[in-house]
Amino acid sequence: MPEPLKELLESLGLLRDTFNSEIKKVNTPSGLEQLRIKYLGRKGEFTKYFKSMGNLSPEDKPKLGEALNESKKYFQDEIANLQQSLQTKEIEVDDIDLTLPGTFQEIGYQNPLIQVLNEIKEIFASMGFSIETGPEVETEYYNFEALNVPADHPARDLQDTFYLPDGYLLRTHTSPVQIRTMESRKPPIRIIAPGRCFRKDTPDASHSPIFHQVEGLVVDKGIAFSHLKGTLLAFARKMFGSNIGIRFRPSYYPFTEPSADYDFSCVICSGKGCRVCKNTGWLEISGSGMVNPAVYDYVNYDYETYTGFAWGMGVERIAMMKYQIDDIRHFYENDLRFLAQF
Ligand code: DAH
Repeated sequence: MPEPLKELLESLGLLRDTFNSEIKKVNTPSGLEQLRIKYLGRKGEFTKYFKSMGNLSPEDKPKLGEALNESKKYFQDEIANLQQSLQTKEIEVDDIDLTLPGTFQEIGYQNPLIQVLNEIKEIFASMGFSIETGPEVETEYYNFEALNVPADHPARDLQDTFYLPDGYLLRTHTSPVQIRTMESRKPPIRIIAPGRCFRKDTPDASHSPIFHQVEGLVVDKGIAFSHLKGTLLAFARKMFGSNIGIRFRPSYYPFTEPSADYDFSCVICSGKGCRVCKNTGWLEISGSGMVNPAVYDYVNYDYETYTGFAWGMGVERIAMMKYQIDDIRHFYENDLRFLAQF
């Protein structure tokens, strides 16, 4: 190849272009080996160039030598790089043992309180109730006054409420959602209102300053106390099984008349009497009653036409019954040893 230096350098440039486009298409180790032999092998492209060095003038020889060495190093580096990535690919494929068991991923646990809350919602939804929500920061009007608890009423025990500036407070029960619902809709009403409530209680085994209630409200023509009884009994049976009993005790709430507290028969001793039910055979759930006509005045319902019933239920209490948990504080401590049991 007796070409002068300029032509040799140009063709070296072209050789590199060809090499670059060929190496891009290589995707197997054997293909790469063929490429290596073609360019860097004993009879390969480079050898030809080195051979043609003899035809150059003494001052051109080192120039070609330098260019050849630089190119050769470039080709070698490119080949070595590709070789490495093809090898790791091979290892990746070969080293996967598809019969090995997977790495165990620990998943989170849902707090039993939330599980029970969801279950309560599902049961009432299946009975045709819709779900309403209301704000946790309430006004005195919705939390007390419109529920027939005027400012001077003894039921507004100052000790119990977290008051906020400007007439706001943290709702002490879910009952304000009754008012908000009736204000915005006409009967028939059939809703539950689950949510968080707040009271200034010192935490102990059965008290927590934050707790959950599910409120219920049904208003229509011809609603009677028997409907309340039937609804709560149907709920109790779905939640705890068909052997559960339910009883009502006369009580007092300003927003219902008549009012009744209701108990479920003790799920632990089936009503025979044990430590948990303090030998009474019954566990107290919450309050209920027929909506007081005085409440209808606040929401402009005609109490001559409509009657209704309402109830509240403590979600913690039901969850404690269901899972036989003896301390309400467990729900809020996020201790994995507790949570992992559910
Ligand atoms: N709001 C009451 C409480 O927190 C519970 C309650 C009683 C709700 C009677 C009602 C009801 O809807 O009719 O103690």
